[in-house]
Amino acid sequence: MKTKLDELSLEAKKAILQAESLAELNELRVKYFGKKGLITEISKKMNTLSPVDRPIIGMMVNSVRESIKDQLNEKSKEIEQGILKEQLAKETIDVTLPGNPAPIGSVHPLSKVTQELEDIFIGMGYSVEEGPEIERDYYNFEALNLPKDHPARDMQDTFYITEEILLRSHTSPVQIRTMERMKGQVPVKIICPGKVYRRDDDVTHSHLFTQIEGLVIDRHIRMSDLKGTLLQFVQKMFGTQTQIRLRPSYFPFTEPSAEVDISCMFCGQAGCRICKNSGWIEVLGSGMVHPNVLEMSGYDSTQYSGFAFGIGVERIAMLKYGVNDIRNFYTNDLRLLTQFNHI
Ligand code: DAH
Repeated sequence: MKTKLDELSLEAKKAILQAESLAELNELRVKYFGKKGLITEISKKMNTLSPVDRPIIGMMVNSVRESIKDQLNEKSKEIEQGILKEQLAKETIDVTLPGNPAPIGSVHPLSKVTQELEDIFIGMGYSVEEGPEIERDYYNFEALNLPKDHPARDMQDTFYITEEILLRSHTSPVQIRTMERMKGQVPVKIICPGKVYRRDDDVTHSHLFTQIEGLVIDRHIRMSDLKGTLLQFVQKMFGTQTQIRLRPSYFPFTEPSAEVDISCMFCGQAGCRICKNSGWIEVLGSGMVHPNVLEMSGYDSTQYSGFAFGIGVERIAMLKYGVNDIRNFYTNDLRLLTQFNHI
């Protein structure tokens, strides 16, 4: 019995040493301590021994059992630690690797220019008004001295919803809405930024674009006030070296009317592709508010006068940022938009 126990102990020791996985250790545990395990079997045979041998052999069996158990536990700890180490090595995080950057959006160039324009005019004492994009024919045309069959309506190819309702083709209707609201009070000094719609679509025209309307009404407002205001504006926008030029033009809602050019900032007026070799770039329409317009909206044209202007925001943004196709502003192309992250 003793030799058998010694052999068993030796054999177990060897097997445990050679075991490489927890599964193998488990098999060994069953082999020795399972229901039909070798140690279990020996324990069962204890009562066949003589009373003299029993306590001696009993002690030996106990000691072999404890020893095998200890070895099994020891080995399984060793294997578990090995597994943990391997896992940790596999899951190591290299904190020096660059992370996944969270993309940060940027203000759209048109919003940027609009905000800048607003800031400039607010700085000159203007307040900001808004008006609806779906507008009545009356506000978009009639009250601006453009009756139903007026040929100048053709200047703005308009999207009609019904005969009386349309998508506003300019921000000028907000002039009328403001005058109605002010009920003949002065001074009126507003700008109105907003989207407008026309049936155009090419590199310099889009069916949706953005304007900023300006309107000033008071006593003794003169053309020189208009010119001074616009000069201030362009110099704040494009730099103090910028000059303006007023060219006679025609808008039914102003008399006289002028188109305003700014000196070309790309060539210093030497002549280039952008100013078409003229040294000047057109940026807005303006004029003295037509007496008919004042009267129709409740202002006595013998007492009051005013000036108005309409700035094309895209045009300003194209010049400021060197964008050469107006449609780039509306295609949401990140290659363009991300360039404005840091401006
Ligand atoms: N509404 C004109 C357009 O869209 C621009 C304009 C011209 C506005 C002269 C004005 C103005 O207020 O006085 O073409």
